[in-house]
Amino acid sequence: MTSLEARRTGPIRGAAAISGDKSCSHRALILGAMADGETLVHGLSDCADVGMTIAALEAFGVLVARDGESCRIKGGSWISPNSPIDCGNSGTTARLMLGAVAGMTGVEATFTGDESLSRRPMRRLVDPLRRMGADIDGEDTLPRTVKGARLGGIDFRNVPASAQVKSALLLAGLSTAAPIRIAEPVPSRDHTEIMLREFGVDLLLEDEGIALGQKRGLRSGELTIGADPSSAAFPLVAAAILPGSDVWIEGMNLNALRTGLYEVLEEMGAGLGVDNERIVSGEIVGDVRVRHSPLSPCHVPAHRVPAMIDEIPALAVACAFANGESIIEGLDELRHKESDRLGAIVAGLTACGVVALVREDNLHIFGRESVRGGANIATEGDHRIAMAMLTLGLASEQPVSVDHAEMIATSFPGYETVMRGLGADLT
Ligand code: S3P
Repeated sequence: MTSLEARRTGPIRGAAAISGDKSCSHRALILGAMADGETLVHGLSDCADVGMTIAALEAFGVLVARDGESCRIKGGSWISPNSPIDCGNSGTTARLMLGAVAGMTGVEATFTGDESLSRRPMRRLVDPLRRMGADIDGEDTLPRTVKGARLGGIDFRNVPASAQVKSALLLAGLSTAAPIRIAEPVPSRDHTEIMLREFGVDLLLEDEGIALGQKRGLRSGELTIGADPSSAAFPLVAAAILPGSDVWIEGMNLNALRTGLYEVLEEMGAGLGVDNERIVSGEIVGDVRVRHSPLSPCHVPAHRVPAMIDEIPALAVACAFANGESIIEGLDELRHKESDRLGAIVAGLTACGVVALVREDNLHIFGRESVRGGANIATEGDHRIAMAMLTLGLASEQPVSVDHAEMIATSFPGYETVMRGLGADLT
């Protein structure tokens, strides 16, 4: 176990180099592996979770040649792996690949995960996959064994909004000609849909959702992935709360279903600028700059949460420094992430002298310009809790340390280097 401590820092300034988006990287690898021919990916994430997807694909006999941030994937037919697929901490690896394999007749695999992933719910995708005809054993959590089968269609309502569930059904649906329709009253991130189109698949927009069209074969090609807005959240929130700071990130993914945090930060008064917006491989990317400015509290209604679901720990820290009561509603899903994130946020803030509480599924944070800090935080092995509490420690009166800092590599291996490069005091 490695611990890491953050101490009060002067302004942080400069360009933060952020690796490719984690969600898009998983999808590029899996779709590349399902397409016939070679796919070239630029800007692949360097994080441990994406490493899990690469290792899993290799176990299915897919050739993946990685060279720094570039990667070549030779797709085609998959074979049954010799041993169980360890997905580590990565829910996206487990859920998307369960969906992909469900429709591959003749392929059989068992998926396992670490302690955290082994507690996370799988029924939410296994039940609808079974309705399509999938052969998957077990009850809810991993390990689960899937035997590829001929699948039928489904008409599914994606509530609560989950991009992983939606993606698992879409990947399974590529193996059949039957109707696949997914309604989403509140939309979840749509990277799978965007990338399926890049791979030549027909995707239809319907009244309240999407459907797979007739063309479901994947055409290999070349993709470029923008920087990860969920990793960028930590240096950018640090810039928002540290007086005199000015931090920017080039080529960040600005998909509207991922930028909820940035919209709220702007509403709270952070100096936020976006420049050079363009479309890259179907996704909007642009350069983002955050300058410090005093923050006001926010009120986020539940329907806005899916667009910032992974950024709630970072947003909670911004709220701790905004004078007054902030309310973020509809956070039940946070209880099912890498840890019970809702509980971990409240425990972490409370330990640092911030008044924070949960009423029903709503988080209330009573922020002040000055926060005490001075705590050792038990992160429950959750990478985003670790980075959020270190962000708080950079601006609090007393240092904040976190345990299991090694878990930060799950999503952002460059975190310490990037933050120190901007002037943050982390040891
Ligand atoms: C992800 C979707 C979200 C998110 C997770 C990554 C994805 O989870 O929290 O970190 O890549 O599709 P849900 O699908 O469970 O909402």
